[in-house]
Amino acid sequence: MIHALKMFYTTVGRKMIMALTGLFLVTFLIEHLYGNLLLYKLDGGVAFNEYSEFLVSSLFIRVVEIALFAGFLIHIIDGIYLTLYNRRARKIRYEVEHVSGLGTWFSRNMGLTGAVIFFFLVVHLKSFFVPYRIFHTDTSLAYEVASAFRSNWYAALYVVSMVILGSHLNHGFQSAFHSLGFNNIKYMKPMKTLGTLFALIMMIGFASFPIMFYFDIFGVGTDILGH
Ligand code: HEM
Repeated sequence: MIHALKMFYTTVGRKMIMALTGLFLVTFLIEHLYGNLLLYKLDGGVAFNEYSEFLVSSLFIRVVEIALFAGFLIHIIDGIYLTLYNRRARKIRYEVEHVSGLGTWFSRNMGLTGAVIFFFLVVHLKSFFVPYRIFHTDTSLAYEVASAFRSNWYAALYVVSMVILGSHLNHGFQSAFHSLGFNNIKYMKPMKTLGTLFALIMMIGFASFPIMFYFDIFGVGTDILGH
């Protein structure tokens, strides 16, 4: 038992934790994208608001949320540790970066892209999570999202952050499987393709919201805001 616990304080152990928490966060992203897609139903935001209210009222979801925030915290703390460690011992890097060839800047700068995502998350949670989930401000969440994306800087911040998120996921996905021992060259290629595909879907999916609402494409903004 003690031996197993000690393992998590080694660099290999920390990489495994990064991988496991990263993959857990990925499942959250899939659920979150699904929920947000309800904003496109052109029903005045009803389905999105109902889904959001269901999340608030479910005890199970509240417990999952605690696990989610713990996952983020562990991922961030280990990420900072590994970034500093890699900086000190420049030779120790995720080996996968030698395989990937392309995008090595991103693979070398997972700490930096992670920091940008963290900054995005702080702004994001301050806008939506804190007022509506914690202080239960009585409003239509769909209305708040649609009006937030009418702002130039807010929409731009989201688009830039989603591009960074895409690159973080692209490299993170491959690294996660590598850290979990799927080093066999047979798996590496399909894993890389899968990771890139997943990163692209998340990037395009999430970036679509600021773009669709800012430009009011298909009237998604007018449908919810009424103007
Ligand atoms: C770009 C499109 C996005 C929109 C429109 C959006 C919208 C929202 C909204 C309205 C909430 C409040 C809670 C609710 O859903 O009922 C929320 C919560 C949250 N968002 Fe996002 N989000 C986006 C992207 C992201 C991304 C890319 C991440 C992670 C990197 C993220 C992480 C979170 C977290 C951690 C919460 C709090 C937990 C939760 O409520 O489930 N969001 N988001």
